Amino acid sequence: MMSIDSLDSLVVFQNKSEFHRAVRLIIDNVSFEKDVTVQVFEATIRVVGSLLSSHMILTNENNLLGDYRMPDYDGELLTMAHDIVLRMLPAFENTLTGLPYPRVNLIKGVLEGTINETCTAGAGSLLLEFGVLSRLLNDSSFEIIARKTNARLWNFRDKRTGLLGNVIDVQTGEWKGILSGLGAGLDSFYEYMLKAYILFGDETDLKMYLDAQDQIWTHMRKGRANCRSDDGQPPIYVNVDMRDGKVVNTWIDALQASFAGVLVLDGMIDEAVCFHALYYALWKKYGVLPERYNWHLKAPDVSFYPLRPEFAEATYLLYRATKSPFYLHVGREIIDSLNMHSRVRCGFATVHDVVDKTLEDRMESFFLSETTKYLYLLFDEDNPVNKNYSRLLFTTEGHIFPISNKFRDAESLSPILDLNVSCQSNLVEDTLFPPLNENRLTQIFKMMGYYGNEVQAS
Ligand SMILES: *[C@@H]1O[C@H](CO)[C@@H](O)[C@H](O)[C@H]1NC(C)=O
Ligand SMILES: *[C@@H]1O[C@H](CO)[C@@H](O)[C@H](O)[C@H]1NC(C)=O
Ligand SMILES: *[C@@H]1O[C@H](CO)[C@@H](O)[C@H](O)[C@H]1NC(C)=O
Ligand SMILES: *[C@@H]1O[C@H](CO)[C@@H](O)[C@H](O)[C@H]1NC(C)=O
Ligand SMILES: *[C@@H]1O[C@H](CO)[C@@H](O)[C@H](O)[C@H]1NC(C)=O
Ligand SMILES: *[C@@H]1O[C@H](CO)[C@@H](O)[C@H](O)[C@H]1NC(C)=O
Repeated sequence: MMSIDSLDSLVVFQNKSEFHRAVRLIIDNVSFEKDVTVQVFEATIRVVGSLLSSHMILTNENNLLGDYRMPDYDGELLTMAHDIVLRMLPAFENTLTGLPYPRVNLIKGVLEGTINETCTAGAGSLLLEFGVLSRLLNDSSFEIIARKTNARLWNFRDKRTGLLGNVIDVQTGEWKGILSGLGAGLDSFYEYMLKAYILFGDETDLKMYLDAQDQIWTHMRKGRANCRSDDGQPPIYVNVDMRDGKVVNTWIDALQASFAGVLVLDGMIDEAVCFHALYYALWKKYGVLPERYNWHLKAPDVSFYPLRPEFAEATYLLYRATKSPFYLHVGREIIDSLNMHSRVRCGFATVHDVVDKTLEDRMESFFLSETTKYLYLLFDEDNPVNKNYSRLLFTTEGHIFPISNKFRDAESLSPILDLNVSCQSNLVEDTLFPPLNENRLTQIFKMMGYYGNEVQAS
């Protein structure tokens, strides 16, 4: 799993021989004919996404990263991606709502007694991988399954607020989690509506994304309207009850940091700058990010840090959008504190407690597939990914897909033009360093409980 998930990181690090060696090892040694139960979502974003990304790199379907063709490659990774998705299809059959079971056994299918509750993001963030698989195989069935799932979820939105909860019963369609927010359980659902539109050009996805963005703005966003020019409290996005929009708690989670990246893709750079600054305050306060932070109590609610990529990702995307050296400075701080707090002899370790910096014997695969990839790209200005940035899209697991006319539905849409609009920023010339003025940054720091001296140790 670790070696599959980190394949295209080797391409980003431009180590062709190691990439080819890893591809060969995976082809020769990995089989999905295994009596194991996987989460459909995790297997899709980590395994399918990576196999597809590497397949496109190896076949020059994605020729934007340089020539990584391998003489004896014969489409094996695509075959493997196809194989594991076929093994997961039973999850999509025979539920009363048509929403997928969250877990499936790769040999036996859906096991008796399997749980019926899925998180929204788990069911609703499969479209990039299933869609690309369909287009590479010329078999629309996978994309159709992912689209149906999204449409069904969408229909379960609350009639009054238009919001989705975070957990739903796939048999009854009843919401088991009524929390609506930008973090765990929902994050990549929003992200994939926008990214699916960018990749495939289908207006339905854009419309869903814009509707969701409206509900988010109406119900979750608090604080001044324009972060960079208005007065009042800095913006913050809170967790609300999907049924009435009332605030349900006072924490934000680390996954939510990825929303800054969605805002960048959407062209809302000012908003992204402020959103990112909230997490920067937390990073400065702890040197890493607590899984959940209570902004009211100004203390962590959940204290581990599993080396998550979202803050590094947002830092990278904001740097690409603004070119402000502020983000290089932030990246430097991230790298320094990862080295200081989590580096161990054989890798990097999950921080068990952000306060005392105790560690766990665990390194998640997303550390190599995403965290290191984004940090590397932040500083490697001449990397092919940065040179061809506007034609590439990162999946929610950091796998790199080309934005290609071949994947677009409507020929009339020019993908390059679209992205030009959403990724360009003219912030650079008319902004001071740092992009958010010091008073506003300090105000955000205070809101998050960082007063400038917590991380003495670093
Ligand atoms: C590629 O990775 C291998 C294995 O880590 C390493 O020995 C080699 O020096 C790397 N090559 C380059 C060009 O970085
Ligand atoms: C991978 O498979 C090849 C060929 O079957 C075998 O020789 C090799 O030992 C395997 N390597 C690992 C690391 O399992
Ligand atoms: C960007 O993509 C183009 C088109 O495939 C390719 O010719 C070029 O080499 C790429 N740039 C870099 C720096 O790899
Ligand atoms: C899932 O729902 C089905 C159909 O309603 C039910 O028979 C089954 O017991 C449920 N499974 C669990 C683990 O609750
Ligand atoms: C894709 O499938 C369709 C319908 O089965 C077929 O008409 C078309 O020729 C196929 N295209 C390619 C490139 O294989
Ligand atoms: C993309 O943006 C650049 C800079 O704003 C502009 O010069 C160029 O014409 C745009 N390209 C397209 C295809 O719109």
